[in-house]
Amino acid sequence: MKLIFLGHATFQLVIDGHEVLIDPFLSENPVAPIGPEEVNPSHIVLTHGHGDHYGDTEAIAKRCGSTVISSVEIANYVAKKGIASHPANVGGSVTLPFGRVTFTPAWHSSSLPDGSYGGMPMGVIIEAEGKRIYHAGDTSLFGDMQLIGRGGLDVALLPIGDNFTMGPDNALEAVRLLKPKLVTPIHYNTFELVNQDADAFKERVEDETESSCLLLAPGEYLEL
Ligand code: NI
Ligand code: MN
Repeated sequence: MKLIFLGHATFQLVIDGHEVLIDPFLSENPVAPIGPEEVNPSHIVLTHGHGDHYGDTEAIAKRCGSTVISSVEIANYVAKKGIASHPANVGGSVTLPFGRVTFTPAWHSSSLPDGSYGGMPMGVIIEAEGKRIYHAGDTSLFGDMQLIGRGGLDVALLPIGDNFTMGPDNALEAVRLLKPKLVTPIHYNTFELVNQDADAFKERVEDETESSCLLLAPGEYLEL
């Protein structure tokens, strides 16, 4: 499978011919390498309702007929706009044609574009082709990351931008709890408020933990 980083917290996953988007923030994303018209996902997974994650969900889902998988509140919100959706909630797993999606807790908030409540913000574990990938969503550090790591993680996608989420110090602590084979930092250098030195983070991950760290520039991908 291929995990293509589209900037901020947006990923395009290509798994056995299926295209899946996580948090498709493209048209308003200053670092996105492609626009919303250049994707064609069968499924869109949303961690929460904030604009920098919900992004172009409506336009993409309407054009491509994609199914949105997210909290029950977000699923109901998009369903009212005529978009196919699958409601879930924290702790729940959904088996889909490309693999299994499990929602984890995330310490954050979640409101939708019209200001309505978006349910609990979440992280997501994607299991496919024998691999296990954790996208933490927007979150602080929390001790239960240790439980998330227990099943073994091939990749952890962790926010390091600070201000709205963990910063590099706490993300490093998260790596110690999750023990992933590989860490890729996300949610940084998109706007001034989340500017960080990712090279310094990578150096600390590789010096101070057992994990490797891969920095992806928007448009770059990792293959598993
Ligand atoms: Ni957010
Ligand atoms: Mn965010």
